[in-house]
Amino acid sequence: MALRVLRQHKGLGWRLVRAGPRYLSSDKPRHLDQLRPGTISAQIPFGDDKQYNSVVPAIYPSSTFVRDQNGTNIAGKIYARDDNPTVLAAEGTIRELEFGADALLFSSGMSAATAVFKILRPGDHVIVPRVMYWALRGWIMDFAKRWKIEVKALDFGEPFDKNKLRSALSTRPKLVWLETPANPTWSVSDISEISSMAHDIGAFCVVDSTAATPVLSQPLNLGADIVMHSATKYL
Ligand SMILES: Cc1ncc(COP(=O)(O)O)c(C=O)c1O
Repeated sequence: MALRVLRQHKGLGWRLVRAGPRYLSSDKPRHLDQLRPGTISAQIPFGDDKQYNSVVPAIYPSSTFVRDQNGTNIAGKIYARDDNPTVLAAEGTIRELEFGADALLFSSGMSAATAVFKILRPGDHVIVPRVMYWALRGWIMDFAKRWKIEVKALDFGEPFDKNKLRSALSTRPKLVWLETPANPTWSVSDISEISSMAHDIGAFCVVDSTAATPVLSQPLNLGADIVMHSATKYL
């Protein structure tokens, strides 16, 4: 999941923060934006291995990392749940492929998606696509019932009815979830238009881009706040 809005509070749960345009406050070189996905995939993961410059990134099984006699962490890494170098390399690659401000790896697509929905509070409204991955839709409906969250399902494929979205947005949802191309019909949604309408009322727009991959679509560049993938598919 690549994020423009962040981030895991070190091991304490989830918080949404608008991070602003990519690289606004970082010293990353702009030329990365021009690299093709193949070059990003080939080069980005390997920055961390200063010791051996290995071609394939090493797998780090350590759960924790050495500190000095004052208890200060030496290498900037504390505990593997947040700081595992193998995971950080994959997150860095996905962040660059998606032109994101940051990225987080989860154990499955479902855990990435549900982490987003768990930011919602009782009484919040969300808009989801009528056509979407069935297991996630089932989870959302069950979660929404137990947490008293209002869910409105809309058709986001072509032809897209702007008025229906406008009317659904009048309930001031916190989140508009898109899946494009959508499983299983592969209907395509207009990320720019829908995310812009969501932002007009202060809602976040999240895109499940599993079927597209960052090679074919970069939802953050089109205005989405968060993009996610189930990495057992095309990614
Ligand atoms: C579009 C889409 N999103 C999310 C998921 C869930 O991902 P995972 O199976 O990695 O939990 C799937 C799985 O089939 C999917 O097709």
